[in-house]
Amino acid sequence: MIGQRCYGKRAWTLSEVCFGAMRMTLEQTGGLLEKLFEWGVDTHHSSHEYDCHAIYLKRLAEARGEGRAFKHVVKLANPHFGESKFDPRGFEQAIDRELHDLNADTLHNVQWLLRSQPINDRDRLEVLRRDREQIEPTFQRLLQSGKVLSFSSFPYSTDFATATLQLPAVSGLTTYLNLLEPEYAEFAAEETPLLAIRPLAAGKLKSAYVSRLDDDMQRRFTEFAKAADSHGAIDLAERESLGDSPDARWPNLLATALRYPLLHPHVVSTIISMRDLAQAEQTCRLAAGVQPDFERFETLRAAASLLPSFADCQPREIAR
Ligand SMILES: NC(=O)c1ccc[n+]([C@@H]2O[C@H](COP(=O)([O-])OP(=O)(O)OC[C@H]3O[C@@H](n4cnc5c(N)ncnc54)[C@H](OP(=O)(O)O)[C@@H]3O)[C@@H](O)[C@H]2O)c1
Repeated sequence: MIGQRCYGKRAWTLSEVCFGAMRMTLEQTGGLLEKLFEWGVDTHHSSHEYDCHAIYLKRLAEARGEGRAFKHVVKLANPHFGESKFDPRGFEQAIDRELHDLNADTLHNVQWLLRSQPINDRDRLEVLRRDREQIEPTFQRLLQSGKVLSFSSFPYSTDFATATLQLPAVSGLTTYLNLLEPEYAEFAAEETPLLAIRPLAAGKLKSAYVSRLDDDMQRRFTEFAKAADSHGAIDLAERESLGDSPDARWPNLLATALRYPLLHPHVVSTIISMRDLAQAEQTCRLAAGVQPDFERFETLRAAASLLPSFADCQPREIAR
């Protein structure tokens, strides 16, 4: 069973595994949200920008029809690409539209994105400085109304993360955190809860993917597994039973990657796409019962420095 964690010092919780709705297909998701709810996953991350959003809303309506109450983490951008300033009215309308579409009274977390075009920190930081007087009161109004329980930012860069966290209404980060993208772990603290996106690095942290990398990169994954093992960060007793597949060369990679963000005491939840019931069952089995263990988190983080970066981790046929 997947447990719940408090969002920082708040009295409310999210499930430690959050269902990410970005890759849903109609064919493979019948009954998926219901089963996940039964296994303890009551929190969903969604965005009206995802191509499959209509599929998610359909499956959500079916699942809610059975009397289940879900918690929502919603991704919302303002300003959007091509817009030059924060639009308070547009943002509040977008929140109302989300509440309506999700048939919810409240959004537990709004992952706020400040977009710029071209994408760069200079413009983003400038908009943040200039529009702060509109952004902060708008967020505070939404918090006071109860429509939103918390705001987190999607940071883009560590400088931007630092700047957004200076807004009193922004309490945390909802960002990538996995073995290939560990940078934002620095920010996670009791007063800065973190929701960790893509524990499997968008599917790169699976033996089947690693076996498509060139020999040097494959060796780096083997070195990582050895380093993690030698420090006891991987549970050897589980080696035989929890592999990706019996003949995988990195048998514990999936389990290690899934659990890694949850070892951090201030990660509230890890946001993962699950294609079908079989993946959902495996994910929940592997992620159930992970206790925060900062020492183990740091050991894995050190071992992960042996791995290629997210961008470099490309199969031979794509990298060429
Ligand atoms: N900027 C943002 O805010 C942002 C960006 C990206 C993602 N997200 C959110 O984060 C969620 C996760 O991102 P993501 O899908 O890119 O990365 P991810 O969750 O790290 O990887 C998901 C992929 O891993 C595979 N997988 C999942 N469970 C598995 C299992 N038990 N065994 C084997 N393979 C398994 C599946 O690939 P196969 O189907 O190929 O097997 C799945 O599509 C998204 O749904 C979305 O909600 C947010």
